[in-house]
Amino acid sequence: MYDVLNVREDFPVLKNVIYLDNAATTQTPVQAVSAMLDYFYKYAANHGRGAHRLARETTNHFEDAREIVAAFLNMDVAKTIFTKNATESINTVSRGFPWKKGDHVIVTLVEHHSNLLPWMRLKEMGVELSVVKPDICGVVNPEDIRSSIKDTTRLIAVNHVSNVFGSIQDIGKIVGIARQNGVKVLVDGSQSAGNMALDIKSIDPDFFVCPGHKGLLGPQGTGLLYIKEPDIIEPVFLGGGMVSAVTTDSFKMEPSPAKFEAGTPNIPGVIGLGRAVEYVADIGVKSIEKHERSLAKDTARRLGELDGVEVYGPKDRAGVVSFNVTGMNAHDVAMILDQTRKICVRSGYHCAMPGIDHLGVKGTVRASFALYNTEEEVDTLIRTVSDITSLVS
Ligand code: ALA
Repeated sequence: MYDVLNVREDFPVLKNVIYLDNAATTQTPVQAVSAMLDYFYKYAANHGRGAHRLARETTNHFEDAREIVAAFLNMDVAKTIFTKNATESINTVSRGFPWKKGDHVIVTLVEHHSNLLPWMRLKEMGVELSVVKPDICGVVNPEDIRSSIKDTTRLIAVNHVSNVFGSIQDIGKIVGIARQNGVKVLVDGSQSAGNMALDIKSIDPDFFVCPGHKGLLGPQGTGLLYIKEPDIIEPVFLGGGMVSAVTTDSFKMEPSPAKFEAGTPNIPGVIGLGRAVEYVADIGVKSIEKHERSLAKDTARRLGELDGVEVYGPKDRAGVVSFNVTGMNAHDVAMILDQTRKICVRSGYHCAMPGIDHLGVKGTVRASFALYNTEEEVDTLIRTVSDITSLVS
């Protein structure tokens, strides 16, 4: 087990606050920030576009980051595409897939808006959408996905871990059902990459997406897209860096990943992400998962023991705990946590309105954990929520 107090030294902001909003974005370790500073101070240039020494050095660092990330998640380097976030990754698939009128897509009710709206918009092209309901804890029964499949179903898009409930979907089973029915499957790993041990080649989805700025501890503005068969997807953006030959009436695209990375990418961000992923790998994602899930389990249990607190999600959860204080607006609770104890949590709909509506509430307070959170921080959260309940009792 790693030493959480040592880990905290690498995240200076944690000296000032209790940061429990890791499902929105994590903090980035000093090692990754320092790698980004090195880029700016020592060798900044564009990627893949110059013969001079700085361009070569930049390109090497950028491509090293791709190798680090691909190895960490066990993905082919050529199929590992850098984007600016999971949203861009999902939109790349939804816009680039070869749809036909009458095609059918399946999603679940507990998707983040980024894994819902891009599929809803396909209605304009005559693509039909089915939304599978989870149970009240946010767990989707894979058999409900199976029974929604029709002859016209082309794709299933599903989150691995819900950002509202912390529920963990049976991705292995869902991918298996997709395979048996000749349907493609996109897994949204926004809340699992870096938080749980993932082996993409063995899960074997057709598409896998995640941001760089959550469990992978990278900076904002970085994301990943894995495409198992890159040739079936047309790139959304065309421009520099993704073509090998251009005349005024035709062009030849580079193979993946360049084909999907038109324009100058977030070079410092990707280099920082590579270093951050090395940091996560050095600590060990299995230990991180154990730590985060144990904190979340304790938090859910202890909050559930307080009168006037309702906790959502399954017992067996990832590092996310949504709750409400009866009679109080979630934003007010979050504001009091911040103002009284500098506890940073998210409140509201968490970009997942249908999932929150499913609970029949107008939002939740959400505490979400990372490798650097401690039992002492959980104690402070529980004490403060307990104090808040006395305001309304
Ligand atoms: N997806 C992020 C969250 O759940 C922003 O907070």
